[in-house]
Amino acid sequence: MTIHSVQTAPIAGQKPGTSGLRKKTPVFMGRHYLENYVQSIFDVVGADGKTFVLGGDGRYFNDRAAQVILRMAAANGAARVIVGQGAILSTPAASHLIRANKTDGGIIMSASHNPGGPDEDFGVKFNMPNGGPAPEAVTEAMFERTKVISEYRILEAQDVDLSVIGSHRLGGMVVDVVDPVADYAALMETLFDFGAIRAMFAGGFRMRMDAMCAVTGPYAVEILENRLGAAKGTVVNRVPLPDFGGMHPDPNPTWAHALMAEMMGDDAPDFGAASDGDGDRNMVVGRGIYVSPSDSLAVLAANAHLAPGYAKGLAGVARSMPTSAAVDRVAQALGIAAYETPTGWKFFGNLLDAGRATLCGEESFGTGSDHVREKDGLWAVLLWLNILAVRKESVADILAAHWARFGRNYYSRHDFEAIDSAKADAMMAALRGALAGLAGQVIEGMTVAGADDFAYTDPVDASVSAKQGVRVMFADGSRFVLRLSGTGTEGATLRLYLERYAAGPEGLDLDPQAALAPVIRAAHAVARISEFTGRDAPDVVT
Ligand code: G1P
Ligand code: ZN
Repeated sequence: MTIHSVQTAPIAGQKPGTSGLRKKTPVFMGRHYLENYVQSIFDVVGADGKTFVLGGDGRYFNDRAAQVILRMAAANGAARVIVGQGAILSTPAASHLIRANKTDGGIIMSASHNPGGPDEDFGVKFNMPNGGPAPEAVTEAMFERTKVISEYRILEAQDVDLSVIGSHRLGGMVVDVVDPVADYAALMETLFDFGAIRAMFAGGFRMRMDAMCAVTGPYAVEILENRLGAAKGTVVNRVPLPDFGGMHPDPNPTWAHALMAEMMGDDAPDFGAASDGDGDRNMVVGRGIYVSPSDSLAVLAANAHLAPGYAKGLAGVARSMPTSAAVDRVAQALGIAAYETPTGWKFFGNLLDAGRATLCGEESFGTGSDHVREKDGLWAVLLWLNILAVRKESVADILAAHWARFGRNYYSRHDFEAIDSAKADAMMAALRGALAGLAGQVIEGMTVAGADDFAYTDPVDASVSAKQGVRVMFADGSRFVLRLSGTGTEGATLRLYLERYAAGPEGLDLDPQAALAPVIRAAHAVARISEFTGRDAPDVVT
């Protein structure tokens, strides 16, 4: 078989964002686009003699992109690639395979929770040998490489039949096609008390899991229905589709509205959950009660010891800066460290590797632990199930008890989508310029205690990440945060994060939007959102 060196030229804008390179699918399918980026990955990490994992969330173009990446891996001298059957792997399952097989990393094809299809989104990201997303220094090097690339290498060969489990050859490279679910399910069995959860289901506990026509379907069916005995049909939208059935596979109250309606309805099951396109996000809902991701992280941290995998307790917890401080209160009570990192899972990697943190989470429906180096939707669902099986209380009762003990961090995120980028940049620039004068001002009856642009120094490798979001903190513990999304593919998305603390015992049962109203007004007044962007109201509220 012939290895071709194909002449190419740099393509502008191949800059990885919060989680890899994401673009509209037609852009990714454009001439040399995928090839340039993949070659840049191999140029930076090296491929000769190496073993990689490859898989994706099954979205449109996943299958063809996989064949291109395999041919390029072979042409670049890789020894072996482990691929999920059909080129499918959930992001946490890919992370696990990278670690379990002691590989040199992996390529994940996904745009996570962004819609998929010929006119929607596609993405490629590289994960390191530890199973976690490449850190900024590495993604920066890849971006620099895309700016000077002049050729890529690709093998002339037929497609590998990725539907057949087992060993295949592609030129000098071995392609091992594996069951995407088996190893992941086995890992879950080591962490959770499957016997207790099985007994709970056998006792009539009812659950609804919305896989949103995305990658989690087969994982959830195997683990929840086949191994744990949840009723057949517990998992809905269980067949992964290239366009996610036209849905927006983002597990939040807006996009998982069918699940929300069922859980708030008269005959609601005991527990509901949803996951995203590539299976790393989760939303959990109790009968008649929504659990915010920040609260979920705090409850999981407070109860993790009830699951066998965490029976020894937690080394520490970590949350992204815009995530509410609810988990910090738990950490304080447990006497363990709490870390505050920039947005994006890659910032948790060093803390997990160093054994400083066991549980991590983000307000954006991401929760995970040191079992892999990605957030993990189904893992969070299983930890909740384990806790419910041991405590034998409802989700509502567990939340009420949690707030009574720790107080409640009312929390919401408002997203303003597809804003003109120049306007969004101008707004953020004006806000940054105004920060110095804010301290001491009284806004909406609240005194500004401090305001800054969050910068993070990694406690393990001392790397510094600046400009990670503007925070305005008030003396009563309330705050708002503003940053621009790093995962969008259309204009800019402005994220406004809102938080207010109520110590209790009174005032623990308010509607979050009502409880946060003064903070919302303060944020609009300080950032002049409407003046700069023309938007008064958010597109998505979570
Ligand atoms: C978003 C979330 C962030 C998450 C990332 C990848 O990034 O806010 O917490 O890690 O998706 O799932 P953003 O679009 O805000 O840059
Ligand atoms: Zn995702």
